[in-house]
Amino acid sequence: MTDYDVVIRGGTVVTATDQFKADIGIGDGRIQAVAETLKGARQIDASGLLVMPGGVDTHCHIEQLRVDGTADEDGFITASTSALIGGTTTAITFSAQFKGHPIGPSLAEYHRRAGSAMIDYSFHQIITDVTDAVIHKEIPALVAAGIRSLKVFMTYDPLHVDDRGLLRVLAAARRAGALVTLHCENYEAIRWRTEALLAAGHTAPKYHAWARPEVVEREAAYRAIALAELVDQPIQIFHVSCTEVAEEIARAQARGVKVWAETCPQYLVLSADDMDRPGFEGAKFMCSPAPREKGAAEGLWAQIRRGTLDIVSSDHSGFSFGTAQGKGIAGGANNFRDIANGVPGVAARLPLLFSEGVARGRIDASEFVRLTAYNPARLFGLTGKGRIVPGADADLVLWDPSKKVTLTNTIMQHNIDYTPYEGMEVTGWPVMTLLRGQIAMRDDKVEAKPGSGRFIPRGPYDLIKPTGRLPNGFDASAFA
Ligand code: URP
Ligand code: ZN
Ligand code: ZN
Repeated sequence: MTDYDVVIRGGTVVTATDQFKADIGIGDGRIQAVAETLKGARQIDASGLLVMPGGVDTHCHIEQLRVDGTADEDGFITASTSALIGGTTTAITFSAQFKGHPIGPSLAEYHRRAGSAMIDYSFHQIITDVTDAVIHKEIPALVAAGIRSLKVFMTYDPLHVDDRGLLRVLAAARRAGALVTLHCENYEAIRWRTEALLAAGHTAPKYHAWARPEVVEREAAYRAIALAELVDQPIQIFHVSCTEVAEEIARAQARGVKVWAETCPQYLVLSADDMDRPGFEGAKFMCSPAPREKGAAEGLWAQIRRGTLDIVSSDHSGFSFGTAQGKGIAGGANNFRDIANGVPGVAARLPLLFSEGVARGRIDASEFVRLTAYNPARLFGLTGKGRIVPGADADLVLWDPSKKVTLTNTIMQHNIDYTPYEGMEVTGWPVMTLLRGQIAMRDDKVEAKPGSGRFIPRGPYDLIKPTGRLPNGFDASAFA
């Protein structure tokens, strides 16, 4: 007599707090039991392996539409494949609004495209046009439809929103019960420095970093925090690249502001030197904020250990090097301003973090689980994800902690023609990924079928409620 559909037997279970030997019993796609000896209709041998929650990557640009009608090159099938190869089972991707257009129809299009996903997913809604209709009708409608996070860009043409617009989005989110995520860099400062650099003939990819030094990110992060404090609206700051920004966030956290922050592997393993490779090769490493000076990552590790940065996401952005619609060089981009920003990394995220973090003794395996699965699921209200407890979805990754792999673009299995991590050796590799109890990836081969992923609607939750502390006790958000 068997008690469970599947039993994962003999592994070391790693949760956000503990590591222990146990079997995991799975039924109806969920974890039913975690105990010493369980019997199942099917057994999966996990001896010698770590059994961890499937990765939850809350910052992925998948098939994101652009104003010119093109989309990010990694679509839902290829990005899902790549995610599963790297041990990730859930992603939050983006639905973009374009200036002059309502949100509803484009969100419907993203839902249609995501129908082929092979991992579970949700959306952050990018707000670019802060109209009365968006503030009073579309944001409440999004939240009612289970999309409980908004994204505001403080820089980039044509996406950026000014301070007044940001205040209105923060206020609308407060009323609706959503989290606001932010890309923090100063729009005018970058434009000013970019024009000066180009006028001086500085066109190469390495000048991307010169156009947007740390202070440009720190100023915007501070401003975002201050405006969020004014409205009493919780926020998450995306892709923190350096210590001085993390220190600003730590100060705000210490005074009780609800501000969370993530960093990404590119800021832990790449540096400004990579953008200084010959010719336009440096474009492969161009993302925003820019990778910083060599050695700067140790400061980020310290902020990870302090808890200031409590999520490591990939910021997966699919722009090939050799295609016109990718980094743009083939299409004529001949200066850093015209090269698309972003690096692919959904597959490499967990292996890089495990290798640089756990294998090198910077963090332990439970911290790894918190950064890559538990904290992202908790912050974004993905109940059922990121945990190994009875009742949670059986999204699991079986991990060989000592397997050594040299990263190549072929291994990534994405639809991009390069990986910025080519040639790096990692210690620790996913050997099996299960989504809701089904084997989705085994030995670097994806077994999941297109359409097996599900949209995860997100309901209300306490973590992102306002604190109730408002300047003078006056709630301006009721009117804005
Ligand atoms: O350079 C980056 N990070 N590209 C992706 C879009 C964004 O800013 O998150
Ligand atoms: Zn961004
Ligand atoms: Zn991004």
